[in-house]
Amino acid sequence: MTINKAIFPVAGLGTRFLPATKAQPKEMLPVVDKPLIQYAVEEAYAAGIRQMIFVNGRNKRAIPDHFDTAYELEAELEAAGKTELLELVHSIKPDDMECIYIRQPKALGLGHAVLCAQCVVVNEPFAVLLADDLMVGTPPILKQMVEQFEEWHASILAVQEVPAEHTRRYGIVAGTSVTDRMMDLTHIVEKPAPEAAPSRLGVAGRYILTPGVFREIANQPRGVGGEIQLTDGIAALMRREKVFAYRYHGKRYDCGSKEGFLEANVELALAHPQLGPGFRAYLKAMEL
Ligand code: G1P
Repeated sequence: MTINKAIFPVAGLGTRFLPATKAQPKEMLPVVDKPLIQYAVEEAYAAGIRQMIFVNGRNKRAIPDHFDTAYELEAELEAAGKTELLELVHSIKPDDMECIYIRQPKALGLGHAVLCAQCVVVNEPFAVLLADDLMVGTPPILKQMVEQFEEWHASILAVQEVPAEHTRRYGIVAGTSVTDRMMDLTHIVEKPAPEAAPSRLGVAGRYILTPGVFREIANQPRGVGGEIQLTDGIAALMRREKVFAYRYHGKRYDCGSKEGFLEANVELALAHPQLGPGFRAYLKAMEL
């Protein structure tokens, strides 16, 4: 059983990033030189996934356009002999990658967005990537998870330890360790207060889920924030099937917050092969 499909919920309004997101989706905000959504798509591709399913809302034309052919641009680059740039533009969507767009008619929550993709996924395990969580790891985080899936054949959620005062930002899990990095889950709760949190392990925006979760999401009433929550669907799935949490190797930048977005830009710029050395010298010269 391999994972060949990834769902990218991209219908959120991005209100935390206004005014930058008034006319463009937050997933198109660039970190250094690439939009957030491209980092997530590249991570899925590196994990062997070839079918990318975007669950879109209004105002999101920039995302299909980004992964589409840009005839005028390509013709101009070709005519100007700018082959490196032409290759860069082509590499955004490799030939063996398929992009599928589904419209989420109403912003009813993450669980609802995932459910909107059921007609394409049908009956196979799949990944979910939240592009505003920019994940950096070697191997890439989703690839680490696919490797675990090949061993455990069950749903897997990426988790990390979060500060007690931040439990309200995450799905929080608890369970029994089965290896140093894998945990057999008994609990998951969406955005609990610190005193109600079953642990300090928070879910990062990477999931591998079995298709049984669709039926569970469809049966959920509205949860936290009046939204249909993916976390509630996973909690119900846990009563029927094993669900694991995986403590990934790597780092997550919360690019849904301005602070996390700035941190990602600084750290990825420093690590950038061309920009890094000059940018480091610039920061040093600022004598912060
Ligand atoms: C969503 C999920 C939450 C998860 C988080 C990771 O919340 O509902 O369980 O921990 O993503 O980023 P959101 O950040 O969309 O409010």
